[in-house]
Amino acid sequence: MFTSIVAIVLGYLLGSISFSILFALWLKKIDIRQYGSGNAGATNTLRVLGKGPALCVFLLDFAKGSLAVGIGYWLGNDNNWIPVICGLAAIAGHNWPIFFRFKGGKGIATTVGALAIWGFVPTLIAGLTAIAIIALSRYVSLGSLVLAVLLPVLFAVFGKDAPFVWGASFVGAIAILRHRKNIVKLMNGTENKLGSGKKGVR
Ligand code: G3P
Repeated sequence: MFTSIVAIVLGYLLGSISFSILFALWLKKIDIRQYGSGNAGATNTLRVLGKGPALCVFLLDFAKGSLAVGIGYWLGNDNNWIPVICGLAAIAGHNWPIFFRFKGGKGIATTVGALAIWGFVPTLIAGLTAIAIIALSRYVSLGSLVLAVLLPVLFAVFGKDAPFVWGASFVGAIAILRHRKNIVKLMNGTENKLGSGKKGVR
């Protein structure tokens, strides 16, 4: 029990390390939450800082999700709920980071990193589908929303254990809620397309 709680707290603290905020501070001495979409994530890093930093942010945000789940397996005493809760904790940390006044991102890279460990094949299929949608539409948010819907469906279709299907459903719901403003913009045609988003001060 104690080791499981340690794992969950570590997952939240890991998730709270917001790499887009750190890279923007480090490279340009700015708070990325004041620029572009205001989101602390890889997409807004691409808008504000460019391709290299965005790729680094995506990979590091992905890795912290995977690492949190790995810690959950390590300290979770063979209880599948613990790696699931550790992944959720990392996503919560990314979205509401304790180190940055609880204003973070939308959790997509961290979600994919965590769920790749819960279930690699369903996450890979959802991820590739999202990439195809982003490539065709140029809307990252649309790809993220499709990913959020597909993940729980695919986890169920692939017969994953209940904790993983519940976990995927929960993170899917969080991702959709975090994209509320994007959904409105997609519907009224004002959402930023890849390569054409405004990157200046909000
Ligand atoms: O993963 C976040 C992406 O779906 C949307 O980001 O900055 O365009 O709101 P952004």
